[in-house]
Amino acid sequence: MRVVVLNGVNLNVVGRRQPELYGGLSLAELESRIYSWASELGLTVLCRQTNAESQYVEWCHEALDWADGVVANPAAWTHYSYAIRDALELFRVPVVEVHLSNVDEREEWRRHSVLADIAAARVIGRGPNGYREALEYLVRAK
Ligand code: DQA
Repeated sequence: MRVVVLNGVNLNVVGRRQPELYGGLSLAELESRIYSWASELGLTVLCRQTNAESQYVEWCHEALDWADGVVANPAAWTHYSYAIRDALELFRVPVVEVHLSNVDEREEWRRHSVLADIAAARVIGRGPNGYREALEYLVRAK
């Protein structure tokens, strides 16, 4: 089973960005945990991060014929990008929306996700472990 993990804007600076909200792990450390959870679960995972919305969309398109599941944390784009919603909606495999922080208990504008209704599941406010929960969900959904 192949899973693409797509992290969006500003997630390259986790670790030094409000660690009380996002935790102290760097993106490299987070990705290395994701790769080790993936190998425990018998998954082939590809982790990607970009600050460019068009790149995120391109990576969705590229993964359409490759991925059996998607873990998406589009970061701030979650709250307003219909382009990213449209790109994620193309998948015929489950898309799990993940947020490190509890977006439902922060500013009002973060409570709205333009992806929520197309996501097979949402994992919110579980920190890095949320990615593991998303991978486990995809294994169960297979
Ligand atoms: C985030 C939550 C978003 O509101 C925020 O813009 C991010 C990260 C999270 O993982 O908690 O950049 O997606």
